[in-house]
Amino acid sequence: MNKSSGKDWDQIWAGANIATMVAGVQPYGNIKNGALAVKGDRIAWIGPAAEGAREAAARGIPIHDAQGLWLTPGLIDCHTHLVYGGHRVEEFEKRLCGVSYEDIARAGGGIQSTVQATREATHQELRASATVRAKQIMAEGVTTIEVKSGYGLELAAERRLLEVARELGQELPVSVKKTFLGLHALPREFAADRRAFVAQVSGPWLQSLAAAGLVDAVDAFCENIAFTAAETEQFLQSAQKLGLRAHVHVGQLSDMGGAELAAKWGALSADHLEFVSAAGARDLAAAGTVAVLLPTAYFTLRQTTPPPVAMLREAGVAMAIATDSNPGSSPCTSILLALNMACTLFGLTPEEALSGATRTAARALGASDEIGTLEVGKRADLALWRIERPAELCYALGANPCTGVVYRGRLRGARATLPS
Ligand code: NIG
Ligand code: FE
Repeated sequence: MNKSSGKDWDQIWAGANIATMVAGVQPYGNIKNGALAVKGDRIAWIGPAAEGAREAAARGIPIHDAQGLWLTPGLIDCHTHLVYGGHRVEEFEKRLCGVSYEDIARAGGGIQSTVQATREATHQELRASATVRAKQIMAEGVTTIEVKSGYGLELAAERRLLEVARELGQELPVSVKKTFLGLHALPREFAADRRAFVAQVSGPWLQSLAAAGLVDAVDAFCENIAFTAAETEQFLQSAQKLGLRAHVHVGQLSDMGGAELAAKWGALSADHLEFVSAAGARDLAAAGTVAVLLPTAYFTLRQTTPPPVAMLREAGVAMAIATDSNPGSSPCTSILLALNMACTLFGLTPEEALSGATRTAARALGASDEIGTLEVGKRADLALWRIERPAELCYALGANPCTGVVYRGRLRGARATLPS
């Protein structure tokens, strides 16, 4: 808490119950009947409602009466594949008729079919469909979205996906982190020469996209239907030479030693992790690499082996939760559904799950200094909720109690009204 003078504030939210999500003694970092003052795009003060309101009134600073609503950090969806062409409804039907995700991928469907639809789509079409999905995610209090490329798999197409991601962040009141998912699938034109593809992606493609300012981080799909540990390592090494951090898809369908690899290269996050050894978990903890769990993908693929949450917890691995929004394994634009499933399917506590879409998700994006908790000096990205306790954000299925969002200090969007 900060006792700074009220004269520095632009506005204050008073009468809110605040889940600051700061790790510590209080569950959810709770401050009951609190107030939060904003200056510009920053949080300027947090404290008791009466003190904040008194100070603001004395100085003529606008007071928003939050009327007992809950205030949390703006939620963070730290793993999405939001920009793509087409959909995969036929594949969904096939899977329900008994064909596996792996078989579909090996027969040239799966990611490959989205690559084809993405290459055929225009820039405008990609932007329009991604905008719809981004708005759906944002409606649930999300103020930061990570967006991966990976459905272009040729340089120009990958560039276009990252440009669309950048445009989303410029045109919508949401912060976008752009990830170059260079090793997602082997494109058909390289079917006879994997080595050449990995060399292209790790060399000229990465350099060109990074030079264009389109790469905040890189990603690779280390899996038996995708890329080997050695191929993944080659890409991560090239990224490190450019000073870029990594996310890595590991252990979704099998344990290829991806967690150990992610840790070895100091990755920001290792994502999926249904299959990870005790040694892999220890390595992640030691490296400070966040485990990003993706329960809606697990659910959609009707998987039966959940990530070993007890083992991860025991090892001290920080766990984040994200939607993995994509047309194949997770046609989901609801972070609240992901939080629910993190609890019901994976056994996280509601506090762990909500931390996973705030404080720990910020860490998974390397953005803990800016976002993820409500603390003085951090960005004023806030979500207001009509709930009685924070666990409700994990409890309800299909409800959206978000009643307002403040992005960089400003109320945003159609839902951005205070209590009605
Ligand atoms: O995170 N695992 C790789 N990528 C996506 C799936 C992409 C797809 O099926 O189109 C995922 O699950
Ligand atoms: Fe993914």
